[in-house]
Amino acid sequence: MSGYFLYHSIGTFPGKNRAMSEALTRFSEVWSAEDDGQWPAALAARQTFIEHWERCIGAAPGTLTTAENVTAALFSLIGSLPPSYLKGRRILVAADCFPSLHFLLAKLAERFDFQLDTVPLRPGEAYVRDEDFMAHWDKSVGLALLTWVTSTTSHRCDVAALAQHGRQMGSLVGVDITQGVGIAPFQVSDDTSFVVSSSLKWLCGTSGAGIIHVNPRILQECEPEFRGWFSQTNPFSWGLDDFEYAPDARRFDHGTPAILASAASLPGLQFVESTGIDTLRSHNLKLVRRIIDHAQTSEWRIVSPLDDDRRGGSLMIRMGDHVDVQSIVSHLRDRKLFCDARGQIIRLSPGIVTTEADVDLLCQGIQELSA
Ligand SMILES: Cc1ncc(COP(=O)(O)O)c(C=O)c1O
Repeated sequence: MSGYFLYHSIGTFPGKNRAMSEALTRFSEVWSAEDDGQWPAALAARQTFIEHWERCIGAAPGTLTTAENVTAALFSLIGSLPPSYLKGRRILVAADCFPSLHFLLAKLAERFDFQLDTVPLRPGEAYVRDEDFMAHWDKSVGLALLTWVTSTTSHRCDVAALAQHGRQMGSLVGVDITQGVGIAPFQVSDDTSFVVSSSLKWLCGTSGAGIIHVNPRILQECEPEFRGWFSQTNPFSWGLDDFEYAPDARRFDHGTPAILASAASLPGLQFVESTGIDTLRSHNLKLVRRIIDHAQTSEWRIVSPLDDDRRGGSLMIRMGDHVDVQSIVSHLRDRKLFCDARGQIIRLSPGIVTTEADVDLLCQGIQELSA
């Protein structure tokens, strides 16, 4: 018996080991067969992964492709934009965005001649409020990068309202959906210019299985500088002066695609699709509300939004400065209760394999160990 609260890191589902083993065995059989069937089968598996993702977020066929990770997807996108979107303009991002993306943008600012504008947290607050983000957003913003659900507090921003504002400001709007997809409903809209994500959290896939979706309205304008033979409709068009971008999201491909992560992630995507986000969400909500009840009776400081509609699937709790949080996490591990911490904040993400009894044991553990 163990209690799993790490869906913000790696998602899981009943039977994951077996389903993944079967998928990887199928892949190994095809890949090691001494015939010429490897690539057709491998590319078909990758295409199935892409189509699952398109259905998952309501993206039109041909608007989504794979990326190694979210950072790489954003890098590819930035390098694809016509200069008018970025040159001399601002990229707006919140202070609680995923740091990796901020690291990337801070480095790219000089070469692409944009100013990186980071909307700060209010003193004493743990997430950037939508209203503060909007207050910083005027017509000088060429691109705003929204973190749909944050990894530090599980704050869920109102993408529809922010993206509509973005349209009025003439800005591109990108959304990082990594922490929310698979546990809360998300559909692309005409106001979102692109979406980036990985598959390994609530979608229960593996690392290496990132994606990028680009709105068909801007897709044709995008000319990724990170390009290669697979960016073409026909990868075997090898005339050195005949390069032509594919008309769809394949233009964001470059070298030989990494297939293995797509194949290994398919069971997770299939599980989420067949179970349904509503079912997964209602189980998660029941458990998160139970943690909230424990936290409120224990007077722990919840730093996640209390409004269910403004929160992803996690609940974050800030422990007092005197508490040795790493030691709590480690003692909980000894009891086979798995969570993690960032600084003084404990991150708790219960999913479909987590039970109410696990929540009670975990909360009693935190109570006892922090006393
Ligand atoms: C909000 C968010 N974005 C992105 C990532 C991951 O980015 P990358 O795939 O580049 O490692 C994470 C990982 O925890 C995340 O929480």
